[in-house]
Parts: sequence; C-alpha cells; structure tokens
Amino acid sequence: MTNQDFHHFLRQHRDQHPDDVLTVREEISADQDPTALVWQLAAQGRHPMLVCENVRGLACPLVTNIFASRERVGRMLGVPAAQIHAEYQARSRRLVAPRLADKAPLLDSVQRGGIDLATLPIIKHFATDRGPYITNAILIAEHPDTGVGNMSFHRSTLHSPTEIATSLHSRGHLWRLLQIAQERGQPLPVAMVIGAHPLFMLAGAARLPFGVDERHVAGGLLGAPLEVVRTPKYGIAVPAYAEFVLEGVIDPDAHVPEGPFGEFSGYSSDRSTNNLLRVESVLRRRDAILVDVVGGNSAEHLNLGRIPRESEMVEKLRERFPSVTAVHYPSSGTHFHAYVAVKQMRPGEARQIMLGLLGWDPYLKTVVAVDEDVDVTRDEEVLWAMATHMQPHRDVVIIDGLPGSALDPSASGIGTTSRMGLDATRAPDFDGVRARIAPDALARANAILARAGGKGAASIA
Ligand SMILES: Cc1cc2nc3c(=O)[nH]c(=O)nc-3n(C[C@H](O)[C@H](O)[C@H](O)COP(=O)(O)O)c2cc1C
Repeated sequence: MTNQDFHHFLRQHRDQHPDDVLTVREEISADQDPTALVWQLAAQGRHPMLVCENVRGLACPLVTNIFASRERVGRMLGVPAAQIHAEYQARSRRLVAPRLADKAPLLDSVQRGGIDLATLPIIKHFATDRGPYITNAILIAEHPDTGVGNMSFHRSTLHSPTEIATSLHSRGHLWRLLQIAQERGQPLPVAMVIGAHPLFMLAGAARLPFGVDERHVAGGLLGAPLEVVRTPKYGIAVPAYAEFVLEGVIDPDAHVPEGPFGEFSGYSSDRSTNNLLRVESVLRRRDAILVDVVGGNSAEHLNLGRIPRESEMVEKLRERFPSVTAVHYPSSGTHFHAYVAVKQMRPGEARQIMLGLLGWDPYLKTVVAVDEDVDVTRDEEVLWAMATHMQPHRDVVIIDGLPGSALDPSASGIGTTSRMGLDATRAPDFDGVRARIAPDALARANAILARAGGKGAASIA
C-alpha cells in the first residue's frame, strides 16, 4: 500500500535513489532560478528531482521536476519505464473510492478569514510570464446533483489578496461544470490542491469520460482509497496529506486578466478563459513544501500531461490494430506529434492506423507511420524514414477543420486545426536495399575501440 504523504515519498526516494535527487542548499531567487536550473540540467541530459531548500522569499522548501524522468515515473508505479503504459492502464482502471481519514496533516492550519494569498509560496517560472504562477494547481469540483468529482490542472496566478486568476482553456470537464453552474445562476465551489502525492498528480492529468471521478483513479493508482478530508465551507473531499488547499468559488460571470504564461508548446501564451476564483478558506500543513511543476515544454510538463493519454492511446491502437509494434510521442513534437511503427499485413493499413490515432487523440496534429525496423524512440531514424520512404504526393493525408489545442500558436483563432498523417512505410514498389555492416565487422570494431580506449580513439583515424 502506498504511503500517501509527499514527505514520505521524497524521503524514501532520496534514500533509495540518492543520485536521482539534486538538492540545492544555497540561496536562489524565486524569479526563474528553479526553471533555469532545470533547463541547464536538461541541456546536460540530466533530469533529477530538484529540491531547492532556500528560495528567497519562500518560507518553505521547493521540490520540482518530479515527472521529468520516465524511469522515475516507472518507479512510482513499480515498473521499468517501458511498462508505464500497461501499468498505468491496469491501475487507473481499478477505480477505488476515497476514504475519510482519521489523521490529516492538511488540517494543521485552517484559515477562514483574513486571507492574504501573498503569504503563499509562489514562484515566477519564465521572464515572459505575467508574474508568479501556481503551476501545480489541481482544481476539484463536484457535480451539483451527483456529487461526482472532477480533477484537472489549471495554471493560476494571484489577482488580489483573496482572488486567483485561472484558465480553463482546454475546455474540459471543469469548464462543463462551470457552465452547469452558470445555467443555474450559481457560482461553482472548487478546491485547489497545491502539492500532494505524485500519483494523485498523475490522476489529475487523466482525461476520462465525464462522470468518472479522478479521485477514484488516484485510489487505483495508489492501490488504496485516497485518504480525504472535507473542506470547511463546501465539503469538497481533498487529500488529507495535501500540502496546501484553497477553497472557494469560481464566479462564472467574472473575468480578469490572466496570462501570458510559458506553455507546453514552448511559447508564452495568453490564450486564456480568464476565470476568477474567490478564495474563502486556506488549509495547510505546518511543514508544507511547495511542490512545483516545471512549465513550458519541459520534460516534466510534457510527461505529466501525456503519460495518461499515451497509455490510453497505445492500448486502444494495439487492441484495434495488432500490426502496431511500437508507439512513441517524441518530446520534440510537444503534445502534437506521434510516431507509430507498423508491421503491415495489407496495403493501406498504416493510413488506417494514422487516421485512428489522429481521430482519437485530441492534441495530435501529425502522425508518422514507419515500418517495424525503424526505432520510433529516435527522431533521426523517423526523419530518415520520411526522407527515403515517402513520396509527398502519395503519402501525405491532411484533414482540416478539426478541434485543436487552444495553445497551438499556429492554429486558427476559432480553435480548429488541420491534422496530417505521413506514411513513411515502404510502398510495395519501394526500390532500395539497406546498406549493412556485417555483424562480425561490428564486433571487430567494438573490440578495436575497447582496446583503443577513450583517448586512443583519435589515433585510430
Ligand atoms: C501541468 C499541467 C498544466 C495544465 N494546465 C492547464 C490549464 O492551465 N488550463 C487548462 O484548461 N488545462 C490545463 N491542463 C490540462 C488539463 O488539466 C488536463 O487536460 C485534464 O486532464 C483535464 O481533465 P478533464 O478531462 O477532467 O477535464 C494542464 C495539464 C497539466 C498536466
């Protein structure tokens, strides 16, 4: 059974994988330093969990970059990185209802009056951001009739000492609940969870049919009921071990400036629904940590957003098309590209597979299909297959006028996009024999290089 306390997760991960946690003890600025550290580490190919113990102006430590490494996400689920999709699907399908907790560190401090949100630990991520942002804000709202909850991430910034500006641009289920509230002329009660167990965060990123409560998915991922307490005013069930929870209402009729913010596309976006959240209670642990999510097209932001979606898509594709041998969403394509390897059984199958994926995945713009011998985890191999197997007049399928991501800076103002399938599998009349190196020559080369060692390599030439 998973311990649901983030503090326990951090301690245990540090103990078991000390090389996978980088702790910065010197004082750093709350103005972009954590993001800059993550960017410079990524440039070196490093994706450790980052603990910043002394961020100027923050009265607590900051932990970020938790989802940047797929190996680490695999460890959270108890599997190697290659098995994340199957494990995620198996666990998330076992819906487990939450349980009211006997003990709740979150209730260490419950403030219902005199709220000043400026006392919350918040950092600025990019120079181009409007200001400091809460990037790990999971909003929970419950359906007014059924009580079924919904969880989703929404970038959030301070608007006044008691108000938060937030964006519902992905127009998911929170947006739908807000519309129901508006039709009834009521505000929508919500609880914003800032910091909780990483598997709770993963559940917050899941996209499920309307009416499936992501708190039950969190239970499935954790392998035990999510331990919850109810917020003091609206009784919304929130994790008992959360770091901070803000409770209040979104007023469907109030709009305030929000954005720009550095988004997953790698661009600073001010496409926002400009919603206003009035905060009425603040709950926090005595020893609260700021659990941050790196923004922009960081590995963390991309992994967190797409692991649940990838898992669903891989399962669907494999079920319907047994000829699919591998699927990969490359980071270079943010949320917009996918590569599929296929062992085609009949002509046209690759196109059918691409159309399936382009239809099912709400974010995708481009799918590239390649033969099974191409390694889809390597951009350069896929680009080589496109360069040498594809004839654009024959192998490009484009469909226009589909709903797209509001944050794609190249998409139309009305939110539609075109989508493209590139069939880079070899056609029946393909005329090429792949240049090969014999295995014994490769083995000899390995032996020579091993003898020459690092320094001697130059003398080989
Ligand atoms: C780190 C992160 C930040 C996100 N920020 C926003 C946001 O600011 N606004 C938004 O509408 N969606 C945002 N999303 C997307 C939704 O939270 C996400 O698609 C969620 O699964 C939608 O849930 P739903 O299907 O219950 O609507 C973000 C997702 C992640 C992982």
